[in-house]
Amino acid sequence: VPSKPWSGRFNEPTDAFVEEFTASVSFDHRLYRQDIRGSIAHAHMLTKVGVLSAEESEAIVLGLETIAQDIDKGQFSWSVTLEDVHMNIEAALTERIGPVGKKLHTGRSRNDQIATDIRLYLRDAIDTIAIQLRHLQEGLLNLAEREAETIMPGFTHLQTAQPVTFGHHLMAWFEMLARDNERLADCRRRVNVLPLGAAALAGTTFPIDRAYTAELLGFEAITENSLDAVSDRDFAIEFTAVGALLMTHLSRFAEELVLWSSAQFDFVTLPDRFCTGSSIMPQKKNPDVPELVRGKTGRVNGHLISLLTLMKSQPLAYNKDNQEDKEPLFDTIDTLLGSLRAFADMVPAIKTNSDKMREAAAKGYATATDLADYLVRKGVSFRDAHEIVGKAVAYAIQQGKDLAALNLETFQSFTPLIQEDVFAVLTLEGSVAARNHLGGTAPTQVRAAIQRARKKLRLQ
Ligand code: ARG
Repeated sequence: VPSKPWSGRFNEPTDAFVEEFTASVSFDHRLYRQDIRGSIAHAHMLTKVGVLSAEESEAIVLGLETIAQDIDKGQFSWSVTLEDVHMNIEAALTERIGPVGKKLHTGRSRNDQIATDIRLYLRDAIDTIAIQLRHLQEGLLNLAEREAETIMPGFTHLQTAQPVTFGHHLMAWFEMLARDNERLADCRRRVNVLPLGAAALAGTTFPIDRAYTAELLGFEAITENSLDAVSDRDFAIEFTAVGALLMTHLSRFAEELVLWSSAQFDFVTLPDRFCTGSSIMPQKKNPDVPELVRGKTGRVNGHLISLLTLMKSQPLAYNKDNQEDKEPLFDTIDTLLGSLRAFADMVPAIKTNSDKMREAAAKGYATATDLADYLVRKGVSFRDAHEIVGKAVAYAIQQGKDLAALNLETFQSFTPLIQEDVFAVLTLEGSVAARNHLGGTAPTQVRAAIQRARKKLRLQ
């Protein structure tokens, strides 16, 4: 049984259950690469300031590198008795290179070590998530380009409102994800700060060079206060909040895909390879991927609340409570990566049923606002125009006809201002093309928006 690095002042062994209960190695072993990277940087720094000799440092670094290789290959046995990833690796180091391994922890505590590990891990995770998010954004841009002219009903209250182009609708999703992307990049700036050097809570008596450690680890800044450095996890909370918003966007998108792929809407067909069947109903093809993404949003929202609650009553500085930050954080990362990947893979393969979309847009008096705008251009106030068109719509409903199916004589019974040119206004193409300004649904505007988006994405 390996002995604990802190056992000196204890008079009896740890209770077996307590050992299990307090250990984190079952989940924090995920941090081994970052832990070793941080330790190597720490050893180099200690050498630079003369705390370790060059030979000692070389032995430590080589030892750590072989440990990393062994863990990579799955040839490392983790011990619960050694509690966490840090003590497991440190014990293995001393076992391999002898007593010099015991010098590594000079001027350092697990408190600043774990804070460093999570920040390194999260920084990498953010970069991977950003790549995946970008794939999805590119997929949306390509699809939007293909569908720039496709007409569908736009909804408010899930009731047909006005015709829009499918490209425009897809670009709405793109915009939400673009903000998520910005939030992620902004969060990364606050993640990328070096806490190492704070030691347990007050700093260390050794002449450490934190700027050097920061440089070795690629940190852009150094924490200003040692108490803060070891105790706050706001960067993890912030990341989870960014993730919760991102998942909320994906969830809304997922909801639309579920609705649109139903027989009742039939706007899109999801590829078979992204759907599953029923064990009893032979005809079923279920949109499991969007459904799961919608469902997984709940996990991330939950993790955000977990982390906020974990933090809220902690006195300064480090408390063991913080060990509980890892599972929510890891699961947030995994959920984001999985959901983004699923969507990035699925979006380019979405088939559009443009006839069905057009048909739906033609129903529901979607161009009634266009008729009101037409009357305004003929000199009627908007409120009066609204009233006149409302009456025409009520009449058309009663006749079971579309607005465009009424003849000129009928229109003129509502107001003589309506002329032959009204029919162009009532077409779906005329309606979308007329909304021709920045942010509008006209195909030319959608194409311009796609172009701007591509440029922005390239610059990121
Ligand atoms: N496993 C701990 C955590 O996740 C590492 C830091 C432990 N520090 C301590 N003094 N017990 O936060």
